[in-house]
Amino acid sequence: MPGSDALVAAARAARVHAHAPYSHFAVGAAIEAADGRVFTGVNVENATYGLTVCAERVAILKAMSEGVRAFQRIAIVADTEAPTPPCGACRQILWEFAGDLEVILANLARETGRHQLSALFPIPFDRRLL
Ligand code: THU
Repeated sequence: MPGSDALVAAARAARVHAHAPYSHFAVGAAIEAADGRVFTGVNVENATYGLTVCAERVAILKAMSEGVRAFQRIAIVADTEAPTPPCGACRQILWEFAGDLEVILANLARETGRHQLSALFPIPFDRRLL
């Protein structure tokens, strides 16, 4: 798809700012709003471990904090041969605020996968059940 290289490049560029002193597993994300704006995020770890925030959530919450409410794609980059997909918590948050967006996975050299969020998160708990 046109433009996805730029989104992956933004996630790769952001990744250098990951704060991952415990896992040494640096992740970068870049989410594209419906209007084309791109917001990046990195994982930010904490000494309690459990308070770590993943790159995907940082990216989408940065966008939401600037008033964005509609999204089309997210790119996620890690330095792994195998695809690094979003964790369960991130899938829940992305589904809540971005719906069925396209998820592009990549490493430092190439794209490693592409999925709709609905395929990664097929039976969500969401507002329709409340
Ligand atoms: N992590 C992310 O930021 N996104 C993912 O998709 C997978 C995991 C982070 C959390 C933690 O800082 C480190 O990677 C290892 O789990």
